[in-house]
Amino acid sequence: MYKILANTLFMGRRLVFVPECHSTNSLALELSQKQDLPEGTLVITNHQFRGRGQQGNVWISEAGKNLTFSLVVKPSFLAIKDQFLLNMVVSLGVRDFVQSKVSQSVNVKWPNDILVDERKICGILIENQIQGTGFTNSIIGIGLNVNQKGFHLNNAVSLTMASGRGYELQEVLEGICSYLEKWYLVLKQRGVDRVKQSYLKVMFGLNESRNFSTNGRQFTGVIIGVDNNGRLMIKENGETHFFNTKEVQFDFESY
Ligand code: BTN
Repeated sequence: MYKILANTLFMGRRLVFVPECHSTNSLALELSQKQDLPEGTLVITNHQFRGRGQQGNVWISEAGKNLTFSLVVKPSFLAIKDQFLLNMVVSLGVRDFVQSKVSQSVNVKWPNDILVDERKICGILIENQIQGTGFTNSIIGIGLNVNQKGFHLNNAVSLTMASGRGYELQEVLEGICSYLEKWYLVLKQRGVDRVKQSYLKVMFGLNESRNFSTNGRQFTGVIIGVDNNGRLMIKENGETHFFNTKEVQFDFESY
């Protein structure tokens, strides 16, 4: 059971709690098709049994130990071509929140995985509803590992594992939503440059030589940034390549 958030302006001011569901993103989507949900509506469950991840993956989370929720926002101020900015602010909000709880360095692995020392602590799935030339709703799905103590994947971690203490889920929810609201408002008030610069500052692997693979080909390159379409820019032997999400993998990636 979760309480309506009292520390935000609009994120989580309307709350839909269900003890269990397939996927909070799917539930938020269904609800938004039946009624006009106020901006910031939060859909949350204790047990998500068919959580959806990026690129058709599943998101598995131990019931009652972690946060699995979706926020409905209405970024009508954003042009469709700029939708990656939403990924950036959501990543920044989650990253800053996690960084406030752990001493290790927290980074964003493009496009929007949150890593603590190269281990994934949070997954983000943003699903946009577009009508004509603009957004109606964006469903921001967040799976944050909080009190879970072990994972079947080696490169997953939780707040508890990273900081050595347990957490009240309601408090974590309040904290993360307040950071998300802050960064969403930075974007809304047209702070595009600040958003881009801040994302680059915390981007995993920026300006470092790393191994990648694309279409079965392995190569060594240096991430030099993200272009205006949200594509990852990697320099290899003096030539810059641009990648969409499914087109490139980091060598250590196995989730
Ligand atoms: C990923 O890293 O692949 C993204 C995982 C996103 C998981 C969250 S949990 C809450 C919300 N509902 C879903 O079905 N997925 C997202």
